Amino acid sequence: MNLSEQLVATSMPQHVAIIMDGNGRWAKKKGKIRTFGHRAGVKAVKASVSFALKNGVKALTLFAFSSENWNRPAEEVGVLMELFNMVLGSEVKKLHKNNVRLKIIGDTSRFDKKLVNRIREAEALTATNDSLVLNIAANYGGRWDIVNATKSLIAQVQSGQLDMADIDEEVFTQNTCTADFPAVDLLIRTGGEYRISNFLLWQIAYAELYFIEEFWPDFDEACFQLAVSAFNERQRRFGKTSEQVS
Ligand code: FPP
Repeated sequence: MNLSEQLVATSMPQHVAIIMDGNGRWAKKKGKIRTFGHRAGVKAVKASVSFALKNGVKALTLFAFSSENWNRPAEEVGVLMELFNMVLGSEVKKLHKNNVRLKIIGDTSRFDKKLVNRIREAEALTATNDSLVLNIAANYGGRWDIVNATKSLIAQVQSGQLDMADIDEEVFTQNTCTADFPAVDLLIRTGGEYRISNFLLWQIAYAELYFIEEFWPDFDEACFQLAVSAFNERQRRFGKTSEQVS
């Protein structure tokens, strides 16, 4: 069976989230500075988007910059911002042509004006595309998302738009950054660390977790396929017994 035939025989996760880790270590192993790894990571981002598009993944959420990443050396933060700017400039037309909707999730208020404008333009241009939603989590934190959703619900209750008795998990979800998307089915983390690092906390309640040793710049379509194959071997029980779901 070739790669495409294997994938037809599998069920594709609808929403895949990725913690792209290991850029710095990848660069260090090659005797280069950390930012060399971030630049190399762009290729892996493109490979992931291409795989998701070809295989019918409906939402792909990438952790590009956490709320805590501001604490890195200023030069590294600067290169990351420059990379986001550059990629937005060079890739948006291609994404649009491929019917991809681009969304930046996170607190963009701390980004410079030029970057925020580019983000808004890219989101507006691609707003009605529906082959794939590409969420880039930038200055994002899972706890921040939950606090924000809570504040938004309180404001709606205070203004009389919402009855507190009507708040349930669905309503809460509708107030998070990923309101319009299905819950995460598969969470991948590269770089050999086994933690969530304040990524999508609410959204991964029933995600299958997949950790690999490869550093992010080495992640390619074959790695993505292995993750999907592992996902297909899992029995997702959502709290039921295996007899009930088989
Ligand atoms: C984690 O590796 C990676 C990041 C904090 C940044 C990810 C950014 C990119 C791949 C660049 C482009 C992305 C987009 C979406 C345009 P690390 O630096 O924490 O690696 P380490 O654990 O080896 O130090």
